[in-house]
Amino acid sequence: MQDKVVLITGASGGLGHATAPVFAHAGYRVALTGRNTEALEELAATLEGESDRTLVHAADLLDREQTGALVQSVIDAWGRIDGLLNLAGGWAGGVGLADVTQAQWDEMLHMNLITAIHITQAVLPQMLAAGDGRIVHIASMAVEDFRARQVAYNVSKSGLVALARSTAVEYGAQGIRSNVLLPGTIDTPRNRRTRPSQDRSNWVSPEALAEIMLMLCGPVGEEINGAAIPVSGGL
Ligand SMILES: NC(=O)c1ccc[n+]([C@@H]2O[C@H](COP(=O)([O-])OP(=O)(O)OC[C@H]3O[C@@H](n4cnc5c(N)ncnc54)[C@H](OP(=O)(O)O)[C@@H]3O)[C@@H](O)[C@H]2O)c1
Repeated sequence: MQDKVVLITGASGGLGHATAPVFAHAGYRVALTGRNTEALEELAATLEGESDRTLVHAADLLDREQTGALVQSVIDAWGRIDGLLNLAGGWAGGVGLADVTQAQWDEMLHMNLITAIHITQAVLPQMLAAGDGRIVHIASMAVEDFRARQVAYNVSKSGLVALARSTAVEYGAQGIRSNVLLPGTIDTPRNRRTRPSQDRSNWVSPEALAEIMLMLCGPVGEEINGAAIPVSGGL
């Protein structure tokens, strides 16, 4: 177990900050990526264990070359990637379908879907060679409970579910397990800051999401493939 390696995208974000410690504590070697090197290094400095059990490699996942170099750097360091936790993504919305601009479509499809396609394609060859690999994406409850005025987000996260489940059906027989979590509003510092008056009783704990990812990467996760798992905070 102590040699297992997990690559976390979006590690510089709110969910990433809760997820990395859970995996480090469980004994994983943890590779952290995002675009903000400073935030990644600050997070790395807080993790348990020897410094050689944490790797920071900033990359823009919209760039296939940078994505390939990221994956190669993890393999060069540790020789394997057992799990991909793809947390990179984000929300934009606020206008109805008739008014969504090309820039807004591009932003959502790029941030939530193209990044996921690039990193999935980049890790798959090594996982297939190993005959084993766990992939967890983070979509949103919005794919089951569509909300108005965020169509580009809804479409991009629905595409992410399709990517996760297509990966599962194509590669399950070769040892790959690919699943996607559908969280409601996550209780991150940014959401607390930007929505101070909102009722938080059904916000989802980021640590709980991290524990679900840990389960999906562990022995029990062997039995779960192609699942889109709602995590609604009790709703
Ligand atoms: N927060 C919520 O309430 C909520 C609810 C449902 C689903 N989700 C989903 O959960 C995931 C994590 O959410 P969060 O709140 O932690 O988001 P966040 O704090 O905004 O962090 C987003 C992360 O994605 C990374 N990222 C975005 N575009 C990228 C790119 N082109 N290349 C590389 N990295 C990129 C960011 O990197 P840099 O900042 O370093 O550039 C950052 O680390 C996201 O997929 C989000 O859509 C969130």
